[in-house]
Amino acid sequence: MSTNQPRNIVVGVAGGIAAYKACHIIRAFKEAGDNVRVVPTEAALNFVGKATFEALSGNPVSTTVFDAVDRVQHVKVGQEADLIVIAPATADLMSRVAMGRGDDLLAATLLVATCPVVIAPAMHTEMWFNPATVANVATLRERGITVIEPAHGRLTGKDTGPGRLPDPEQIVDIANAVHNGARLPQDLTGKNVLITAGGTHEHIDPVRFIGNSSSGRQGFALGEIAAQRGAKVTIVAGSTDNLPTPAGAEVVSVVSTQDMFDAVYQRAADADYIVMAAAVADFKPESLASSKLKKGADEDSLSTIKLVENPDILATTVTRRDAGQFPHNPVIVGFAAETGDEHTSALDYARAKLQRKGCDLLMCNEVGMGKVFGQKHNEGWILDSRGGVVEVEQGSKLDVAAQIWDAAVAFRSDS
Ligand code: CTP
Repeated sequence: MSTNQPRNIVVGVAGGIAAYKACHIIRAFKEAGDNVRVVPTEAALNFVGKATFEALSGNPVSTTVFDAVDRVQHVKVGQEADLIVIAPATADLMSRVAMGRGDDLLAATLLVATCPVVIAPAMHTEMWFNPATVANVATLRERGITVIEPAHGRLTGKDTGPGRLPDPEQIVDIANAVHNGARLPQDLTGKNVLITAGGTHEHIDPVRFIGNSSSGRQGFALGEIAAQRGAKVTIVAGSTDNLPTPAGAEVVSVVSTQDMFDAVYQRAADADYIVMAAAVADFKPESLASSKLKKGADEDSLSTIKLVENPDILATTVTRRDAGQFPHNPVIVGFAAETGDEHTSALDYARAKLQRKGCDLLMCNEVGMGKVFGQKHNEGWILDSRGGVVEVEQGSKLDVAAQIWDAAVAFRSDS
């Protein structure tokens, strides 16, 4: 249920070096028209000053329950919140929240709030894996709080590992999806997820290719949500819009359909779920010129490019799975971008495609001029091979990805 009403968003900031990234989060919500209230901990103000938070949010900032006592601030901020996003959250803050303490304004706000809460931790790897932190994160998740997996990368010192705060844009996207109803249960923990994303390019010569305008956003959104639900994610990506790698995922870059086919087969035997969101070139030039074709000299080669068919990665994966080649017997999800015509609706074309490809689930988008391709939003249906249809409401690609994972996990557990 997305709404265009301004939302009351509380941005909580704990005392970690990544506190400066909260400024981008505050700005993103403000630019989207939201009313933002920043509630830092006292320690956070060692990293970013109160004046910065007040200027960016346009609202007063305090850390203690003893400010604005006449307005009963220690309950009002939490009661009025539509969404609470805490970034960064330290191990100390999560421990206080898990204990149910109310010893500063942020902790008290969380005790009162009934809205969705999204916590983005950032800390050194040792602290993240400390059994106390692990237990606190599990407690928060059990209570329905979304705890975002930290990214893997450079930390404050010379060390690297899991513990980095994900990009502010990723945090905002996840928080918006959670606000719109996306669930991030840890139901993919221990599962291997393989996703194809983006568009493939079929080269004609070293500088020209046949391609398409797929941005890769839907595939990356699927990777993002799967990683947040506990999966080990590999995305085999063709050309994309330079998207950031989702926290906790690995991206394998490929160019052509054959490359994508090969990369999928090297990994399919380990997969529990395979989702093919890539826009794959069905045909490739019969031959690849080793040097750039010239307008005059190579007129024939340029004006008539003979094409040959590429392998169908999805259909072949299904055939090999059904032949027992993949020990995890993965659930296989395909995509279809369809347009209807005067005889057949987009949905009917999708039903036929589901049967033809033999996959378990098919996400069908109705496309047309300006719809879906490269856009930030998506809508359509999820069809399953048992005859089920789920309508996918218009929402961001993360919202849609969460619904696809709900369907894929349900399909597996019903099998
Ligand atoms: N796909 C694939 N390999 C191909 C073509 C498509 O794996 N060579 C996958 C896509 O990633 C997608 C699904 O198959 O998940 C459907 O893609 P689409 O292009 O709609 O399928 P086509 O068989 O090419 O159907 P159409 O004739 O409608 O283009």
